[in-house]
Amino acid sequence: MDVRVAVGDIAAWKDEVVVVNLFEGVTRPGGATGAVDKAMGGAISHLIASGDVKGKFKATFVLPTFGKILGARIFVVGLGTRNGFGTNRIREVSAKVVNRVSKLGLTSLSTIVHGAGIGGVDLAEASEAVAEASLLASYRFSRYRTKEDPKPAPQTLTIVTTERGDARTIEKAVGVARATADAVFMARDMINAPSNDKTPRQLAAQCEAMAKQVGLTCTVLDEKQIQEMGMGAFWGVAKGSAQPPRFVVLEWRGGPKTQRPIALVGKGITFDTGGISLKPQDGMLGPMWEMKYDMAGAATVFAVLRACAQLKLHVNVLGMAPLTENMPGGNAQKPGDIVKTIGGKTIEVLNTDAEGRLVLADGIGYALRQEPEVIIDVATLTGSAVFALGKKTFAVMGTDRKLARRVLDASEAVGDRAWELPLFEEYADQIKSDFADVKNVGGRPAGAITAGKFLETFTDGKPWVHLDIAGPVWNDGGADSPKREYHPKGATGVPVRTLVRMLRDWKTAA
Ligand code: BES
Ligand code: MN
Ligand code: ZN
Repeated sequence: MDVRVAVGDIAAWKDEVVVVNLFEGVTRPGGATGAVDKAMGGAISHLIASGDVKGKFKATFVLPTFGKILGARIFVVGLGTRNGFGTNRIREVSAKVVNRVSKLGLTSLSTIVHGAGIGGVDLAEASEAVAEASLLASYRFSRYRTKEDPKPAPQTLTIVTTERGDARTIEKAVGVARATADAVFMARDMINAPSNDKTPRQLAAQCEAMAKQVGLTCTVLDEKQIQEMGMGAFWGVAKGSAQPPRFVVLEWRGGPKTQRPIALVGKGITFDTGGISLKPQDGMLGPMWEMKYDMAGAATVFAVLRACAQLKLHVNVLGMAPLTENMPGGNAQKPGDIVKTIGGKTIEVLNTDAEGRLVLADGIGYALRQEPEVIIDVATLTGSAVFALGKKTFAVMGTDRKLARRVLDASEAVGDRAWELPLFEEYADQIKSDFADVKNVGGRPAGAITAGKFLETFTDGKPWVHLDIAGPVWNDGGADSPKREYHPKGATGVPVRTLVRMLRDWKTAA
């Protein structure tokens, strides 16, 4: 979808759809809505008086104009009460409108900036929210269709303002929204892609091409280098697959030369069968095919690095991801195997399906060698995180209060749901091994936390936060799914926007 900005009067604007809004409880619409109401001979006021339009949050009334104004139909979208209004409600409303336009089979809409008038939201923030959510809702994954998408997205969104000065502010905000949405789209495309089309080599090649396009440095380690560097835990997982693994490093240097980088490490299991500890066809949390999304952590990291470059953020960021399948091949590791990580610690592998923490132990170990300021890992790590928080909220754990705060605050600002779990020292008892430094399973109780404790073992006391995103990366359409209006079915792109927001605020939130 194309997003444009235009200077003009929405009441005299020609398009298939003209979008205005209404706060709940308002009886005499003002501003742009008032202007449209007036041009329509008080039609909106009548609808309010009759109780058909109440301004309830996300309620969208479609009103034909019968040629009274140039716009063919008016959408009056409800903003809800003034209380609690903000950018997250603007996103929901904007995405809802785009979805409605798509459902009606229309292709073009024009809108005012919701919430910037009496809503009191800063114009740049409000217009970024409108553009971002509209774009996110317009996403379609149609790469594998040979026929047209049954519900194509609208082609054009025009944001209309009366002030020339405002248009410049809005245009800038649209540029930021576009860059953010493009990053989310890249993550969604990778996560939705089938595993036969996203092997470690293919994903690494996509990263190289993307890096070149946006101006990032990209280094890819192959299976030989992975073994030579001593990433024994990563290799233990990879060796069961016929597809060779890759380790991708993306680098963005937008900050001062002397500033140590923020390291992001993403879990990149391009398909998780469980390995020799094979998963069932239909597990408690879903069918096995969904394990194609087990590389969502890696896709998140790649997308965030892409956004860093496109937004030219003033920070230094390193993005890393071990990429491999987890397969039960003839050379697969077995329960009881002991592997050695890049940092020298040993792991007893009691369940080959707890593979994410194995590849991350080496991913974090590699990150430590780059002398980062902090480390954040992102992973679809445990079913246990889903049992604890459901699919709507991702789990945050870590050893640095300030860093955890940064992530939690950023998530709130963009509308992602995040909640912290404790890493109390007592939980480490559950991963003590009889034969090695640690074992890779800690039993059923507190499974998300013991996975976090396991990762903590490899962080060397460096400020670190772990995001277990097993729940919110995927929307299967169920009531328990993450379901913002801007989350289509399949990959959601959570938590790309959280991390981009955190990096944008890195200095000011210091
Ligand atoms: N990729 C899974 C975690 C997962 C499960 C993500 C369901 C999304 C939905 C991970 O590799 C895994 O299999 N974890 C095991 C660990 C257990 C064997 C200790 C789990 O959570 O069951
Ligand atoms: Mn697994
Ligand atoms: Zn996994």
